[in-house]
Amino acid sequence: MRLARTLIDRDQDHLEPALPLALKELYDGDLHFPATPVDRPFVIANFVSTLDGVVSYEVKGHAGGSTISGSDNPDGFIMGLLRASADAIIVGAGTLHEVSPESLWIPESTYPGAKHLYANYRINALHKPEYPFLVVVSGSGRLELERAIFRTPGVRTVVITTSAGRDTLATEGATKLPSVQIQALDSSRGMIAPGAILRLLHTHFGVRRLLHEGGPTLFGQFLAAEAVDELFLTLSPQIAGRKADTVRPGLVQGMEFMPASAPWFQLLSVKQMAEHLYLRYQRA
Ligand SMILES: NC(=O)c1ccc[n+]([C@@H]2O[C@H](COP(=O)([O-])OP(=O)(O)OC[C@H]3O[C@@H](n4cnc5c(N)ncnc54)[C@H](OP(=O)(O)O)[C@@H]3O)[C@@H](O)[C@H]2O)c1
Repeated sequence: MRLARTLIDRDQDHLEPALPLALKELYDGDLHFPATPVDRPFVIANFVSTLDGVVSYEVKGHAGGSTISGSDNPDGFIMGLLRASADAIIVGAGTLHEVSPESLWIPESTYPGAKHLYANYRINALHKPEYPFLVVVSGSGRLELERAIFRTPGVRTVVITTSAGRDTLATEGATKLPSVQIQALDSSRGMIAPGAILRLLHTHFGVRRLLHEGGPTLFGQFLAAEAVDELFLTLSPQIAGRKADTVRPGLVQGMEFMPASAPWFQLLSVKQMAEHLYLRYQRA
């Protein structure tokens, strides 16, 4: 039974199916991605926002995307499907620290009911390993290393950081964690260029499809670097509001565009279930 109803699908000109039948039914359509660029991974972003563009209440215990989506099932299913489609998932340190310490960035975490469907799709259709690996970006290297994502056998995590961040992580014992790899890259005032991150993931880790799960700071930098190919955006039917002195980030934080250079997108598909909309955009 479908989890969302397809209202618009402008990406239907494919001879071969991409999704196995059971996932296609739940998604109410197929899900193809274009060929990977030659020199970097294809980057797909995934966010959920309120009607007024807020992606986090930044309130303790309610800062994550599930508060924004209202723990919406189809949103969780699509998130799992995108994870299942990717070689790796990238997040900034801010997003990592806002989720529960037990969180793992694996497909079934967001929609357990499709665990076996995701695994079958990854292993038998995409010929990828059971799970995508997680890439955490942190300039400072100040990460909570007790988190499950750094200590679960079979779940690989790569930390991309600065040389100072690598030293901090080494002091805290991160280099002794068997499923964790630390990679230091050049930075400017603690910020690592998205291009350098993508080159590293492409050449050193063989990443062809990368899922960007935010947050708004890391996402803004990828947008500015023209390194976002698609955006899956769930529009949740609530309004959060903002005051001048409260921080309630929108999709992008710490970066602004001018009208002449702001990124524009083309609408690829629209799905709906109850009051939620699931939008898929491609960079224009
Ligand atoms: N609704 C949604 O779909 C959604 C999705 C994702 C996140 N969120 C929410 O967004 C909030 C987090 O926002 P945020 O903007 O702080 O998140 P973020 O981008 O995940 O984290 C920012 C941190 O990431 C590191 N970082 C980012 N770009 C970097 C770069 N180029 N080089 C080196 N380090 C870099 C820095 O860590 P260091 O300080 O360690 O250097 C920086 O402080 C959370 O409340 C989260 O729940 C919502």
